[in-house]
Amino acid sequence: MNILRPKSFDEYIGQETIKRLLKISVDAAKKRNEMLDHILLSGPPGLGKTTLASILAYEMGKNFKFAIASALQKPIDLVGLLTSIDKEGSVLFIDEIHRLPKNLEEILYISMEDYIVDISVSKGVGAQSIRLNLPPFTLICATTKPGLLSSPLIDRFGIHGYFEFYQVEELTAIIKRSAQFLELDIEEEASEFLAKRSRFTPRVANKLLRRVRDYVQVNKIKLIDVEAARKSLEIINIDDLGLNDLDRKYLRALKDIFKGGPVGIDNISQFLGESPETIEDLCEPYLLKIDFIQRTPRGRILTENALNYLESKNYEKSL
Ligand code: ADE
Repeated sequence: MNILRPKSFDEYIGQETIKRLLKISVDAAKKRNEMLDHILLSGPPGLGKTTLASILAYEMGKNFKFAIASALQKPIDLVGLLTSIDKEGSVLFIDEIHRLPKNLEEILYISMEDYIVDISVSKGVGAQSIRLNLPPFTLICATTKPGLLSSPLIDRFGIHGYFEFYQVEELTAIIKRSAQFLELDIEEEASEFLAKRSRFTPRVANKLLRRVRDYVQVNKIKLIDVEAARKSLEIINIDDLGLNDLDRKYLRALKDIFKGGPVGIDNISQFLGESPETIEDLCEPYLLKIDFIQRTPRGRILTENALNYLESKNYEKSL
């Protein structure tokens, strides 16, 4: 259990467009005494998709059932999940839905539309199956790569929420809220200092705050000011843009080894000794957002902004 995770809409900061849309849908569904439509949440990692899904279950007064698509490999895995739905209905959440095997996508979208699932009881010629009726449920799926989903699956979501990077003011508010939960005293300027280095991402903001907590605890500092925050980030090599060692290695490789690109993700990941998923999920979303790299059909290319950064004091300081 992550104690920093907000439980209701009121506690959830940011993503105002999605929240407005979902609040109306929740109110309407409750008035009609129906389940909420199926929902697809897409956007970069760490922006609170899982959190929002659990809030929707809470606001609807339903049980929240969590699964991750990479753990659903065989039909029986998915059938097990679908048959675990409460009689009164559940909110079923599947994270990283783009990793669901294609043969399971079909089972899933049939269940979404018709609330049935077929269980095969024998194999081969004359294979038999039993049809089970499912209680009502709301399926919420999250993905960082909506482009990988098949259109029959996408078509069955009634609502599509697009997550966006957070504003610095929103991240400052999130850090202040988290500091309260962690019983930390933090100055406004220090919250803002951390917010600016959080890659527009609450997951990163909370991670930085936990590192600052370690630092002030060990050094017996009672009040977190900018100086304490700065020292904490220096120790973990986070610079003023929120870039870390892996980002810098990535940028340097793109410039020196791959001559600015274009270069494919497999070549970069092989050179850095990290999986393509790590690079795609942890480094690239932010580097794209701050326009340090661009994705082209032939691969990644380095931008002018990144070249300027690699020649800046900010970069040298962090070496
Ligand atoms: N913690 C992580 N994300 C949050 C958010 N969007 N609002 C409040 N607290 C959070």
